[in-house]
Formats: sequence, structure tokens, C-alpha cells
Amino acid sequence: MSQRRVLTGITTTGTPHLGNYVGAIKPAIAESQNPDVQSYYFLADLHALIKAQDPQRVQQSRLEIAATWLALGLDTDNAIFYRQSDIHEIPELTWLLSCVCAKGLMNRAHAYKAAVADNEENGVPDPDRGITMGLFGYPVLMAADILMFNAHKVPVGRDQIQHIEMARDMAGRFNHIYKGDYFTLPEAIVDERVEVLRGLDGRKMSKSYDNTIPLFVSEKKLQKLVRKIKTNSLEPGEPKDADTCTLFQIYSAFATAEESADMRRRYEGGIGWGDAKNEVFEYLNAHLREPRERYEALMNDPAHIEQVLVKGAERAREEANALMDRLRVAVGLGRFQ
Ligand code: TRP
Repeated sequence: MSQRRVLTGITTTGTPHLGNYVGAIKPAIAESQNPDVQSYYFLADLHALIKAQDPQRVQQSRLEIAATWLALGLDTDNAIFYRQSDIHEIPELTWLLSCVCAKGLMNRAHAYKAAVADNEENGVPDPDRGITMGLFGYPVLMAADILMFNAHKVPVGRDQIQHIEMARDMAGRFNHIYKGDYFTLPEAIVDERVEVLRGLDGRKMSKSYDNTIPLFVSEKKLQKLVRKIKTNSLEPGEPKDADTCTLFQIYSAFATAEESADMRRRYEGGIGWGDAKNEVFEYLNAHLREPRERYEALMNDPAHIEQVLVKGAERAREEANALMDRLRVAVGLGRFQ
């Protein structure tokens, strides 16, 4: 029982892309194979409703993300893999935490502040215009996700560190008010070695910049997208700089160290952009072919995915239930006996 508990959620609003794979999915799957770790990975579909009110998009994204993680080899006997919305204890815990969480703490949340700043910049008279309680209380829901399973470590991107700090704050307050060690204080882990992949235009690969390469597009589409990666106007024969090159970065995120070193030498030797792009396409395609086939098979069998997630939810709820029972008693909502 002394396993380290590692937990992370994936908001289900988009289609997984190469950047998600390199930055989050690949390290998470690797971590889940460590016998000293019990990992909890979940589809943050309640969070998705904050950003997306298009039911088809939310539903599709949940399916795609689940299929992606399974196709890439997540072992669900090992990792506990579930949908947030299946764990009914999470919204219940969100309420208990809301009642110990200072409103002022939420006023300082980046996402909320950015939305207010946007309104102010645009001269909107009500700074809270268009801001839902979902967006405002987002960090409380996220704290419930984490504290529900007493996670020790939460691998996240830099933009999420503040939310983990807030979860610690809520955990500490709850423990203090109700005089007990109910919650473990979680720690964010931001892996400096994990690369932030750049997208087609050279900025960070992100759905919000519309510059992504989805992981499991058709071969043809993949080729088209690789050809779209922005390079410069150097001619074949002219030496090229691998370090500033998005195409090279994407290649080396997948290639071995030797393969990258070899490509770097060819950049120095003046490989033409057309040839370099063909090689990168061929390489990615060869590596994505098998998981792409598994992905397609999974997407055609949603009932199987459903079954896997229901099993994950059962495992997760066993723990969630036990903790919620203790918490209800702690706050004065226990059974009469
Ligand atoms: N908010 C996270 C994101 O946008 C997703 C998320 C939801 C999450 N709940 C979580 C991440 C709990 C880690 C732990 O990336």
C-alpha cells in the first residue's frame, strides 16, 4: 500500500494531437508501468462542459481520447482509467470543498482573471460578463478530482500549477477545520525533460492556435500536414539549423537519439525541405501505423470502450465511496444510528 499515487485528467474538448502525445500521453503511459506507482487517469468530462456546450463535440472527444489512450497501450489492469462524470462522489466532494474554499482564492485563478481582463480590455461594463460559475469554480472541481484519490503527484503542464496549489490550500483548510488527516497534500510535477512540441506555424502545438497535427489522421492527411510545417526559404544544398526547426523538433520527439543525430548531420549537409519533409512523414507514418489501426478498431467498437471505462469507474468508486463516507461523518452528514 505504499505505492505512490499519480493522477491526471484530460479535458475532453478536442482531438488528441502529436503535442498531447509527446507532452502528456507518452510519459503517463510509461509512468503507469512503474510497479511503485498506482496511476489514476481520467477523462475530465465535467471540466469539458466549462469550455464546450456542444454535446456532440464533448461526446466525440471523450470517445476519441479514450480510444487514443487505449490504442497507445495504456494497460487498464494496471492504471485506473475512468470518466470523471462516472464518479458521482466528485461533485459531492466539490461541494464540501466549495464550503471551505475562500472566494478570494478563486478570484486569483488565472483562467478567471484572464476572462475578466478580456472584458476590461474590451470595455465591457460588467467585468464578469460571459463568465459562468463553472469557469469561476473550476479549481474546486479540479481539487476534488485530485483529493478524492489522495494523489501524491499530479503531472501537469505549467499552466496548471496554480490549480494544484489551490488544491493543497483546500486540503489543508479542510483538514484543519475538521481536525483530521482526511486529505493528502498533492504536488504538481512539471517534467522539464518533456518537450513542448511546436505546431505547423512554429508556435506551441495547441488546438487554440489551430496548428495541430492530430495523432490518428489518415496517411494522406498526415502527409499533407507535414508538408504544411513552416520552414524557411533556404535552398537545397544550404546548411540548415536543426535547433530552431519545428520539423526537426517534431521528428526528434519520435526518433531515437542516433536517428536525430543523423538527421542533424543531414541538415548541416544541406538536405532540401521537400526531402526532409518526406522523411519525417515516412518516419511518423511508420510509427503511427499500428496504433492508428488499433485506434480505428476501437472507434468502431464504442461498446468495448464503454465496458473498459465502466470497469475503471467501479475501481475508482470503491475508493471514492470509502473516503466520502468518512468525509460525510467529518462534516456532520453521517448516518443516524
Ligand atoms: N484542468 C486540467 C487541464 O486543463 C485537466 C484536469 C482536470 C486535471 N482535473 C484534473 C489535471 C486533475 C490534473 C488533475 O489540463
